[in-house]
Amino acid sequence: MSIELALTDEGKPRILYLNRGDIAELGGDRSDLYVHALREALISHAEGKTVQPLKPYLRVQGKAGHIADRIIAMPAHVGDPGVSGLKWIGSKHDNPERRGLERASAVIVLNDPATNYPIALLEGGLISAWRTAAVTALAAKHLARKDFTDVALIGCGVIGTAQVTALLQQFGHVRTVHLFDERPDAARTLADRISVAHEGVTVTVAESAEAAVRAGDVVVPCTVTDRPYIPFDWLKTGAFLANVSIMDVHKDVFTSADKVIVDDWEQSNREKKIINQLVLEGKFSREQLHAELGEVLAGSRPGRERDDEIIVLNPMGMAVEDIACAAEVYQRAVRQGVGTWLDLY
Ligand SMILES: NC(=O)c1ccc[n+]([C@@H]2O[C@H](COP(=O)([O-])OP(=O)(O)OC[C@H]3O[C@@H](n4cnc5c(N)ncnc54)[C@H](O)[C@@H]3O)[C@@H](O)[C@H]2O)c1
Repeated sequence: MSIELALTDEGKPRILYLNRGDIAELGGDRSDLYVHALREALISHAEGKTVQPLKPYLRVQGKAGHIADRIIAMPAHVGDPGVSGLKWIGSKHDNPERRGLERASAVIVLNDPATNYPIALLEGGLISAWRTAAVTALAAKHLARKDFTDVALIGCGVIGTAQVTALLQQFGHVRTVHLFDERPDAARTLADRISVAHEGVTVTVAESAEAAVRAGDVVVPCTVTDRPYIPFDWLKTGAFLANVSIMDVHKDVFTSADKVIVDDWEQSNREKKIINQLVLEGKFSREQLHAELGEVLAGSRPGRERDDEIIVLNPMGMAVEDIACAAEVYQRAVRQGVGTWLDLY
């Protein structure tokens, strides 16, 4: 990766602005770009070759606020000399219902590592949704049963839609998608979308979260809940659960699963998330963790070893993922002349 400060003809710094349409034009609205960029970034992270400070949460209403009302700063450096950057991602749980807006909104700033100057500003919501989906798809290549056919999705919003779409794009053998959302119209709308776009895939809207989870070989919760509702005994033998919205599963899922994998142990063991609660109670530890995802991708730790294993991935979401994917989008934009240059001075 070679990313450098771009100067105007007068030698002054400038940045490239990429909006959502630009990013989509560059392949940023489907999974391949992300699956490719993430494999390398996650392996480098597991090898200790990235820099990623713990992310601070800005919660204006403190503990009284909704769990999904926050702005998170996510800085990271990836590659050598590589690129540095920051995702600044806001969220209000009622944006969809009250304002007709997506829950999350974000910008990503990339910095040239030689000068530390900002070189690009990208719309971050699209990248964020697709990189999250690609983490699940990449993980499923190593952690799901090879012949899995049934995907269960709980929570059919922006993130859930990208998750199920990425799984359908990456695994042609998916036959049935089981959807559940506490807003039945959200599940029905997504069901219609999938049916139109993916011929040969059966989509069912489940009666309950339990019915969907029990049917899934790959299970992906993407809600905004702060109350766990998925117990271990709902999981099918051989299931792979990607715990995208983090708070949906009961503690016994972590203590009973055959393998628990995280993207990053330090990030998972904080902020009173379920793993952190278990650690504080003395019921889970770094030693009980099977691996970080990058170790599985690098082959230094095994992925799935038997068809009957129940495997849980806890992907907190990492800045290295956002920055690596944004850097790939930026490099494509420079090569293809996409985006708008803005003078900094
Ligand atoms: N792990 C990561 O890397 C990562 C990255 C991005 C987002 N996320 C998480 O993904 C989640 C979803 O984000 P989004 O932007 O799609 O939100 P969204 O508001 O667009 O969609 C959430 C959907 O879940 C449904 N829902 C809420 N609570 C539910 C429940 N208890 N049972 C069933 N359905 C329920 C809502 O009706 C809605 O349709 C958030 O919690 C977010 O923090 C995780």
